[in-house]
Amino acid sequence: MAFWWPLLVLAAAYALCRLLLLLIPPTVPSIDVDASDGTIPPRKGKSAQTDKVQCYEPATMKYLGYFPALIPEEVKEHVTQARKAQKVWAKSSFKQRRQFLRILLKVSSRDTGKTMVDASLGEIMTTCEKITWLLDEGEKWLKPEYRSSGRSMLHKRAKVEFYPLGVIGAIVSWNYPFHNVLNPVLAAVFSGNAAVIKVSEHASWSGCFYYRIIQAALSAVGAPDNLVHIITGFAETGQALVASVDKIIFVGSPGVGRMIMQRASETLIPVTLELGGKDSFIVCEDVDLPNVVQVAVRAALQSSGQNCAGAERFYVHKDIYTSFVSQVVKIVKSICVGPPLSGKYDMGAICMIEHSDKLQNLVNDALEKGAEIAVRGSFGNLGEDAVDQFFPPTVLVNVNHTMKIMQEEAFGPILPIMKFDSDEEAIKLANDSKYGLGCAVFSGDQKRAIRIASQLHCGVAAINDFASSYMCQSLPFGGVKDSGFGRFAGVEGLRACCLVKAVVEDRFWPYIKTMIPKPIQYPVSEHGFEFQQLLVETLYGVSVWDRLRSLVNLLKMISEQNARPAPVTTKKRR
Ligand SMILES: *[C@@H]1O[C@H](CO)[C@@H](O)[C@H](O)[C@H]1NC(C)=O
Ligand SMILES: *[C@@H]1O[C@H](CO)[C@@H](O)[C@H](O)[C@H]1NC(C)=O
Repeated sequence: MAFWWPLLVLAAAYALCRLLLLLIPPTVPSIDVDASDGTIPPRKGKSAQTDKVQCYEPATMKYLGYFPALIPEEVKEHVTQARKAQKVWAKSSFKQRRQFLRILLKVSSRDTGKTMVDASLGEIMTTCEKITWLLDEGEKWLKPEYRSSGRSMLHKRAKVEFYPLGVIGAIVSWNYPFHNVLNPVLAAVFSGNAAVIKVSEHASWSGCFYYRIIQAALSAVGAPDNLVHIITGFAETGQALVASVDKIIFVGSPGVGRMIMQRASETLIPVTLELGGKDSFIVCEDVDLPNVVQVAVRAALQSSGQNCAGAERFYVHKDIYTSFVSQVVKIVKSICVGPPLSGKYDMGAICMIEHSDKLQNLVNDALEKGAEIAVRGSFGNLGEDAVDQFFPPTVLVNVNHTMKIMQEEAFGPILPIMKFDSDEEAIKLANDSKYGLGCAVFSGDQKRAIRIASQLHCGVAAINDFASSYMCQSLPFGGVKDSGFGRFAGVEGLRACCLVKAVVEDRFWPYIKTMIPKPIQYPVSEHGFEFQQLLVETLYGVSVWDRLRSLVNLLKMISEQNARPAPVTTKKRR
């Protein structure tokens, strides 16, 4: 009776200590990051670049400056330097890696938020979520993992070990410049790799500012210089990167994804492709409508719709279709579009001028095939030069799958809304897409929403929410079909930066040594086949009795063989 008291006291004391330790903040060094306008990074030697990456601030078209478009030799040089640095970093401790993350967390959550003009809150939050997840669980998922060793290897121990692959390359899109740069860097560096990131020609300016932050954090923890590189350029630069790294992560369009994969087939490196989507947003008739309408509009308009997991197809049950549309119309009517820096607008610019035309073409195609515009948002006071950089939020009704707007990724602030009769019809419609990234399903009955989502062929599902899985950074992110394959984020994404090695070793039993049983030692005895048969029956026989009987025979055979001297004659061979 009295035995467990001291144990209980000890456990309580331990819990209390853990709690108190949690209250002591870790010491995180501060770093100085030059937040002034970017300077052109110094170039060593050659100035053979054929082209420059010109940078403009999208909302105002203000010219920011340019970066060099790196030629293949320069890219190779960056990767070579990264590879050297990685050899040193591979030996770093998880403690040192965590310190690197803590510095980035401090910068992201405080300083960057103030200076980073075009960062949406979502970018900062997802990045902070990723860092805290890596701090809490990263090491656990990279430690050797023990697995079952099976029947024939019962005397052994089986495990998986994770080693860094070397230099992780990433070619990232422009829609979330901060997160898209930090995301591959965090996973790569935490798992002991180097990283070379090619930023989009449309977001090079900010990319180079983030580079200074990463560089400062690395040097604050004593990591080797050159562990992380950010490079700028166009297709040629990207191709050279694919050709020289040990793994490539690509975020972009299916067309470019195919080219990357082709390139990667030459060096046979692993590829992770995140190629966008045409996500469905399904609303059953039993929902709390005003709430869902707010989520729906945000799902379509966040970042001006430039979101690979943005909602692009809306399927609404016929019983609530009319009120859903009228409530969406009411909200969108009140939305005003303008330059985000002036603060008072609901939605900002889109990144590329050509993109406005593409969006308008999608809308025109739908109108020609019988769709109608239910409402469009209004423009605020736009600068004269920048009108083309904006696209009004647009709600389309009377749409169906004959229209391009229901098939092609728009990547813009358009909400096409379609009616459905039954859950089966909603599933059929939502599933009818060449993309398969994500979906969002809303129902007052959560089980029903789950049932619908489970039948959709896609990589990510949000039940009664939108894109919530991306806030849970323990989860993998990625799709199927034209949305690509492989996963980033989560356990899967972290381990995808690793050389996964299967290792079998002896258990502690010192008396069991690896040895080939006599009957199948070379030269194979006449009982060799019989022995194998008994072994198979012993290990995998259907009934326990069969297996026991075989075991007895097996042991008998072994002892007989051991008693006999080894045969001297060689067998006749064909
Ligand atoms: C698509 O919608 C348009 C306009 O509502 C209609 O005229 C057309 O018949 C529809 N096509 C199909 C295949 O349902
Ligand atoms: C959804 O599409 C996939 C392939 O794209 C298919 O295998 C699956 O059967 C479809 N599911 C339903 C419910 O139609």
